[in-house]
Amino acid sequence: MSKSAQTPAAFAEPAPNASRPRPPVIAMRNVTKTYGVGDVEVHALRATTLTIERSDYIAIMGASGSGKSTLMNILGCLDVPTSGRYRLAGIDVSQLDGDAVADIRNRRIGFVFQSFNLIPRTTALANVEMPLVYGGMKRAERRELAVRALTRVGLDHRLHYVPNQLSGGQQQRVAIARAIVTNPAMILADEPTGALDSTSTAEVLAIFDELNIEGRTVVVITHEDEVARHAKRIIRLRDGLIVDDTRYAPVDGLPPHASNSLEPAS
Ligand SMILES: Nc1ncnc2c1ncn2[C@@H]1O[C@H](COP(=O)(O)OP(=O)(O)O)[C@@H](O)[C@H]1O
Ligand SMILES: [Mg+2]
Repeated sequence: MSKSAQTPAAFAEPAPNASRPRPPVIAMRNVTKTYGVGDVEVHALRATTLTIERSDYIAIMGASGSGKSTLMNILGCLDVPTSGRYRLAGIDVSQLDGDAVADIRNRRIGFVFQSFNLIPRTTALANVEMPLVYGGMKRAERRELAVRALTRVGLDHRLHYVPNQLSGGQQQRVAIARAIVTNPAMILADEPTGALDSTSTAEVLAIFDELNIEGRTVVVITHEDEVARHAKRIIRLRDGLIVDDTRYAPVDGLPPHASNSLEPAS
């Protein structure tokens, strides 16, 4: 681990190169995912071509079983496609070995799941520090970044609480702090509000809106119109295919929910 990798700056995005425009965060071409073989083959994702620009805010919608989580797992390099090409920040992920994939995932993507996935009997602070442990960062520095992330989500008064002492909404905010502590360019959230009441849902969405306004790419999988209303672009899946892809606000604009409008942008 190099010295610079121990500083928060190591998590920052590389400076843009004026002579070469930045590649999209995600460029998928004809990506498929098939589970099983022969009679039990499930085409969870059919040939899917999708480009996601930096700073976009996307909701992925579709009925249960339509392939949303499969798509998210591939977007997040948690799973490999059966066929097709996938580039993350210009890098062809299929050319990387497992360690390099884990590294790019840890540094560039923050994950949020419906069931929070916090480590039980472990404080909020220790949960949020966890992604930094693998980076070899010094303890004091880890702690400082974790406190900052928890403060960011409004939980600086709950640093030493363990998950079962926190409400569902608070647990999800701890999970968001854990997702952003490495300063990732992209947040991927799979049904992040699926287990939350409306107040906690609003709190979580307000945080996602802020993360997007500061330039992070946000991809949220959801069943709920209320959640999708925050996104600048809504992609709908049916039976493993993108059946609709509509933009509601420009990539470099504000999330559209403030105007309470679901009219497509012209
Ligand atoms: N590990 C797996 N093995 C076999 N089939 C799977 C697996 N994961 C998902 N599937 C199937 O792939 C399809 C898409 O699933 P999924 O991506 O989880 O949908 P969604 O998140 O939209 O509910 C479903 O038919 C599901 O049963
Ligand atoms: Mg799912």
